[in-house]
Amino acid sequence: MTDQPSRTPSTRADLGKDPARVSGMFDEVAAAYDRTNTVLSLGNDKLWRIATTRAVAPRRGQRILDLAAGTGASSVSLARSGAEVVAGDFSAGMIAEGKRRHGGIPNLSFVEADATALPFADEEFDTVTISFGLRNVNDPEKALREMLRVTKPGGTLVICEFSHPPAALMRVLYRFYNDRVLPIVARAFSSNAAAYDYLNESIRDWPDQRTLAGRMREAGWDQVAWRDLSFGIVALHRARKPATPDQA
Ligand SMILES: C[S@@+](CC[C@H](N)C(=O)[O-])C[C@H]1O[C@@H](n2cnc3c(N)ncnc32)[C@H](O)[C@@H]1O
Repeated sequence: MTDQPSRTPSTRADLGKDPARVSGMFDEVAAAYDRTNTVLSLGNDKLWRIATTRAVAPRRGQRILDLAAGTGASSVSLARSGAEVVAGDFSAGMIAEGKRRHGGIPNLSFVEADATALPFADEEFDTVTISFGLRNVNDPEKALREMLRVTKPGGTLVICEFSHPPAALMRVLYRFYNDRVLPIVARAFSSNAAAYDYLNESIRDWPDQRTLAGRMREAGWDQVAWRDLSFGIVALHRARKPATPDQA
């Protein structure tokens, strides 16, 4: 969820969203990834995952794509329902770490998959979900269209992503945390604090709740709605793929 530092110093400016460099960064941090998330989010990551799992509402018999799944922390809670879960990510390092940790779960598989060119057939999944991933994708609009393509008509999309607190006071506090506290905590956990510029700036540059909802609609998603978590530090967007006329 938080984007952790690579050992080769890189800043938001030089990292850009170049896919090779983004996946390289995640390859390098895979082993310590989940623990650092919990520290940097002050434990809120657990609550965000619970809310996301509830929004997905996985059920046995369903096929679910957890995209940009990283080491599979979110995928595991989806798989507990008995649903067939595919954890897709374009970082070979994250996928390898996920397989090492969760390889024994029979209804959970890990697949190398680029969100902008998914290696899946049309209408394969009942639900597609992506947590703290869309912001890192170099072409999020293309990813939204790809997610629509692989979802069954009437199927669901759930996006959990950092967002912008609507209340002014909370925005100020959050900005202070990201600008002043996060770099100090990051330095305590990592030798490369510079990459936290990427996390901070990517959150700042990311569209607000309403704008993301508009982009989802433009990509073809229907019934778009969202709810704020932790005062809007994170937003949970939901949408439905329009049903074909004979299903409507
Ligand atoms: C911040 S991590 C989130 C991981 C996980 N979903 C979680 O909630 O902990 C972002 C993930 O997005 C992946 N990612 C970024 N761009 C991607 C793309 N174009 N296709 C697939 N995965 C991508 C990265 O490799 C990384 O594992």
